[in-house]
Amino acid sequence: MRLSLLLSLVITFGSGNCLSCPSLLAEESGASTQETRPRETRPSWYLGRQIAPTMSADGAEWLIRKSRVREEQPRKLLEALQIKRGQQVCDFGCGNGYHTLPLAREVGPRGKVFAVDIQQEMLDLLDARAQPRGLENIEPVLATLTDPKLPRRQLDMVLMVDVYHELFQPPVILQAIHASLNEKGRIVLVEFREEDPAVPIRPLHKMSQSQVMKEICANHFKLVGQFDGLPWQHVLFFARDDSPLPEKQLVPWQSEESAQAAPSTTKESSAETAVDKQEN
Ligand SMILES: C[S@@+](CC[C@H](N)C(=O)[O-])C[C@H]1O[C@@H](n2cnc3c(N)ncnc32)[C@H](O)[C@@H]1O
Repeated sequence: MRLSLLLSLVITFGSGNCLSCPSLLAEESGASTQETRPRETRPSWYLGRQIAPTMSADGAEWLIRKSRVREEQPRKLLEALQIKRGQQVCDFGCGNGYHTLPLAREVGPRGKVFAVDIQQEMLDLLDARAQPRGLENIEPVLATLTDPKLPRRQLDMVLMVDVYHELFQPPVILQAIHASLNEKGRIVLVEFREEDPAVPIRPLHKMSQSQVMKEICANHFKLVGQFDGLPWQHVLFFARDDSPLPEKQLVPWQSEESAQAAPSTTKESSAETAVDKQEN
């Protein structure tokens, strides 16, 4: 067993990551902060980061709120993913399928989306949204906290939107995802920017670029791309460290103000770089 995995098991063992439902929005945003289950009382940590509690299916409506289109620009994200027809992809921690349905349309009838979640209620809600739309290329997968039950060496992409920071045992899951990706397969982390105080999300549900890099690269992945064109979120692409995809240097995120002060690294220019990176 790898040392990182062993350490993680020791750190998190027995910490009982109960399914609590804090609204992810920071209170100052004025959004609902209603709680439907008790908060996690025994925090667990990974590489200096406190792991967030799992968002309960009781709050699933929040995932399909209208304002999400403006806040997260999912169409822009989908374009940045550069998915091809016929691909096999995974929406990891799919919830009620906010991204699963567009992914299913994007890969088309010959492709497949593995929709993975640990909550059967989320998968039921996803099914209720997919059925009327006639999407038959979605395979729901009820995972456990330590086993996402993914196929081996098969996936072109594993998308994790607002999920990674809640994983109970990150190294265990990353090992499983590593084994599920094909040679050029990518894992894509989409996380609210910790560096940006203007993003109205609770700190526990945000991640910095450097923390993402530290955790993912410690688990046999390398950075192969990034997309900085979303309003609130980092989008970082990783591949297995034995993948033929070339490794890329991280372009540190900058606020609008500092980007304007240094025009060579504006948001737009780094977004274009990211698209280039995807084409490799
Ligand atoms: C904040 S929600 C995000 C849902 C969806 N990705 C979206 O953007 O709408 C996080 C989801 O990840 C799921 N989740 C948490 N830990 C998981 C794990 N170890 N394996 C699979 N799903 C997990 C939760 O059950 C929840 O549905």
